[in-house]
Amino acid sequence: MDSTLYRLVYLSRNTIVGDDSRLQEEIDDILKASRRNNSRAQVTGALMFNSGCFAQVLEGPHDKIQETFERIQCDARHTHVSVLAFDPVHERGFSEWNMAYVGQDAHNLALFAGLNEASGVDFAALDGDEVYRLLRGHLEEAETA
Ligand SMILES: Cc1cc2nc3c(=O)[nH]c(=O)nc-3n(C[C@H](O)[C@H](O)[C@H](O)COP(=O)(O)O)c2cc1C
Repeated sequence: MDSTLYRLVYLSRNTIVGDDSRLQEEIDDILKASRRNNSRAQVTGALMFNSGCFAQVLEGPHDKIQETFERIQCDARHTHVSVLAFDPVHERGFSEWNMAYVGQDAHNLALFAGLNEASGVDFAALDGDEVYRLLRGHLEEAETA
């Protein structure tokens, strides 16, 4: 069995409409399903969200990532899913999280502003490593805060 670890990074556009509490409900639902399914599938990662877009990192065995991502791609809560990277990696960056969540506080809004700035109009032109480092950096900061 191939035990190589893979990391997939994608960006997508949010299609959830409504007020903050409706958004929060949907995010809670996504995180609940993610944590339940990912822990069974040995998938770890992080999800970042603002009203405009999602960025997600998934890491784990190749077939498990593929299965998980196929479900995610069919989800009507987002569109324009754009894969930035799907590569073998030596270790997990989010080993402690079946799905860490980076929400929309002021700091994250600034990070997303950086994302949009870095990529210009076509935000999908961003590099997978950049998105990975942003999410990792954010969680490291949150842990030491
Ligand atoms: C942005 C986004 C990220 C998601 N991430 C995951 C994930 O990491 N793992 C997962 O199982 N489902 C994830 N989902 C939810 C799936 O699309 C799907 O609703 C869910 O896997 C169905 O699980 P269930 O059959 O156990 O109800 C995500 C959905 C969205 C919109």
